[in-house]
Amino acid sequence: MAGRITVRRGFFRAVVCGMLVALCTLAPCAQEASPVNYDESKVPAYTLPDLLKTESGKVVASAEEWRAVRRPEILKLFETHVYGKTPAGRPAAMTFQAFDDDVRALGGVATRRQVRVRFTAGEEGPGMDVLVYLPNAAAKPVPVFLGMNFGGNHTVHADPGIKLATVWKRGEGSAAATAVEASRGAAASRWPVEMILSRGYGVATVYYGDVDPDFDDGFKNGVHPLFYREGQTRPAPDEWGSIGAWAWGLSRALDYLLTDKDIDGARVAVLGHSRLGKTALWAGAQDGRFALVISNDSGCGGAALSRRAFGETVARINTAFPHWFCANFTKYNNREALCPVDQHQLIALIAPRPVYVASAEKDQWADPRGEFLAAKGADPVYRLLGTEGLPSGDMPALDTPVQGAIGYHIRRGGHDVTAYDWERYLEFADRHLGKRS
Ligand code: GCU
Repeated sequence: MAGRITVRRGFFRAVVCGMLVALCTLAPCAQEASPVNYDESKVPAYTLPDLLKTESGKVVASAEEWRAVRRPEILKLFETHVYGKTPAGRPAAMTFQAFDDDVRALGGVATRRQVRVRFTAGEEGPGMDVLVYLPNAAAKPVPVFLGMNFGGNHTVHADPGIKLATVWKRGEGSAAATAVEASRGAAASRWPVEMILSRGYGVATVYYGDVDPDFDDGFKNGVHPLFYREGQTRPAPDEWGSIGAWAWGLSRALDYLLTDKDIDGARVAVLGHSRLGKTALWAGAQDGRFALVISNDSGCGGAALSRRAFGETVARINTAFPHWFCANFTKYNNREALCPVDQHQLIALIAPRPVYVASAEKDQWADPRGEFLAAKGADPVYRLLGTEGLPSGDMPALDTPVQGAIGYHIRRGGHDVTAYDWERYLEFADRHLGKRS
């Protein structure tokens, strides 16, 4: 994807610049000059923070202790050190305004609904459009997959009925926004809508830029300013960045889905790819109403263990995307071992709800092994809570999914969402959400 390519180019530029600076000044900057590690033998020795020991050192031996003590501790640590704290709940003035309800969409197989969600009472201020397709052939209410998209709702399907999103221009570093007719259906391969509908599921999506445009503008646009205290101009070091805002947007989309009688609000799966996979995990960790959580190639700051420093590292992600995490997270640039949490604990926050972590062979930047080890690392909590956890000790072979309460696969190919991925997610959802609640 464009962002990824830009980042890699940017990164190589940074490496070259770092080396030049080092040569000129003889004072090398380790962060910029060190090459990306893709060598398993160079992964540093590390010890993961203990999931089942409280901050005061007490062993967590029961589901009750997990729920009452350890889980809240870990959630707080992620808020303080990684993603930042999110404002609680929904805005009092939030409204839903339906502007489309076509019961004969996609040649009659779907009902398409579109709703404007306003976060403030007036017309001004940020809001988001939720696009929903429901299968006409299925008995209602149906389970739904909810995920954010990168390019506008109109990119998920060529359907001319989808409202054209006003999309900020990626990479231009400004809020200049355009609506691009030619991009209808541009991301359709990642959103096999008809396949999902034919399996009895609905699909709902939101353009992530509606909630917070994805560039570092000091948090002037997007939803952050709605929550500033008197005199505040940017989030405090332990307050939410863009991933926190996008995750909040997913919860607000769920608020809307819960009002639709054709949707089973107890069976909404949240999913996301890459940075939006990080977002889906954080949304699922914070909001227990999500019944199932799917991370597709989420990598650093998502499903991958930070302590492995394999592929993308904490320093690199905080440098390339300074707005994604909270400012406190930069304390762990090149010092991953000092962070009080690692990403297996993020996955454990979702327990006992089913969670699926997917990797791709050629997506080494996202550290597939680190993603598997984090999923495996969450297993003790899933078992403590009475589920089967991840029924595999070792990383499975390519294209050999493992599905318990935790699911995992690594497929052939690169960083993307493919039909293979969706087939696995549908199987996993059938298994856990069933056809009817
Ligand atoms: C970059 C970034 C990743 C991210 C990805 C994406 O590659 O380094 O952390 O997951 O973009 O969202 O596409």
